[in-house]
Amino acid sequence: PGGGRVFSGIQPTGVPHLGNYLGALENWVALQSRYPSVLYSIVDLHSITQPQDPKRLRSNILDMAASLLACGIDPEKAILFQQSQVSEHAELSWILGCLTSMPRLRHLPQWKMKSKQKNEGSVGLYTYPVLQAADILLYKSTHVPVGEDQVQHLELAQDLARIFNNRYGDLFPEPQALLSSTRKVKSLRDPSAKMSKSDPQAMATITITDSPEDIALKIRRAVTDFTSEVTYDPETRPGVSNLVTVHAAMATISVEEAVSQARGLDTGAYKNLVAESVIQRLTPIREEIERLRAEPGHLEALLARGTRRARELAAPVLKEVRQKVGF
Ligand code: ADP
Ligand code: NA
Repeated sequence: PGGGRVFSGIQPTGVPHLGNYLGALENWVALQSRYPSVLYSIVDLHSITQPQDPKRLRSNILDMAASLLACGIDPEKAILFQQSQVSEHAELSWILGCLTSMPRLRHLPQWKMKSKQKNEGSVGLYTYPVLQAADILLYKSTHVPVGEDQVQHLELAQDLARIFNNRYGDLFPEPQALLSSTRKVKSLRDPSAKMSKSDPQAMATITITDSPEDIALKIRRAVTDFTSEVTYDPETRPGVSNLVTVHAAMATISVEEAVSQARGLDTGAYKNLVAESVIQRLTPIREEIERLRAEPGHLEALLARGTRRARELAAPVLKEVRQKVGF
């Protein structure tokens, strides 16, 4: 692709886990060199759709910034910024919300999943996808890396670009999905579920700052099955197959190559190999996060600079929006 602008966001959940890294962040790093203009936002406005402790939120924002940088986001190639510091996001979200019907939102995954868990949901949770659309359109973004679970949300952003353009005159390009690999990392304790930060079992999730000892222990405890040979068959052997997925991704080899490296090893011995590949890959990242955490002033300055650059792009677009709406 010659032109184009990429936008993506991640909630400030603190330090990412292995699923976030392999399912999203690795791809973010690749995209920053492939597109001339790239924005990555720590979407703190989205995060308060669930209750947050303010002190914790503040430190989670810095931890996410440190993690993104340590994973390879380069502030010279991508604008890394904090969503709430660019107030245009909230303003455009209101305007787009006025173009969105209530039923359009009811069936979107964010609301269907999370409002049920809580038995009631806030207006913010309900309109979360509208804010996502605003995030994207505010920069006239053309490409949005998304997982399959986010496709419907991107469709809303596409609809809203069209609805706005029809009502007020052409302004927004229709953003295209960049479907990231379908590589899903599973819970180490229950391989029928995906690895998730909300998993209550500590042993189920590897975070990118885990110590080598913790990584080895968690992989040793990973649920497998009663066959000792290592094969890749996610349907019938989800546990072992998840280890193969992780090994292949961390050692940047194919699944077939990972399975062939496991030949002659039982699953117990293979776990050592998998753990070694994870430790090798995560150790420099963990060390870089520790280094960045020790200099919060530097981190804050970096984010502030990204935020200034994002605002410079957002302000003229919002000015056009206001003019078209009649403000
Ligand atoms: P979580 O499921 O832990 O709450 P998020 O929903 O915040 O994670 O996801 C952030 C990003 O990481 C999304 O792009 C999502 O698709 C990706 N992601 C999350 N969990 C996994 C996983 N287990 N495997 C692959 N990608 C994942
Ligand atoms: Na989630």
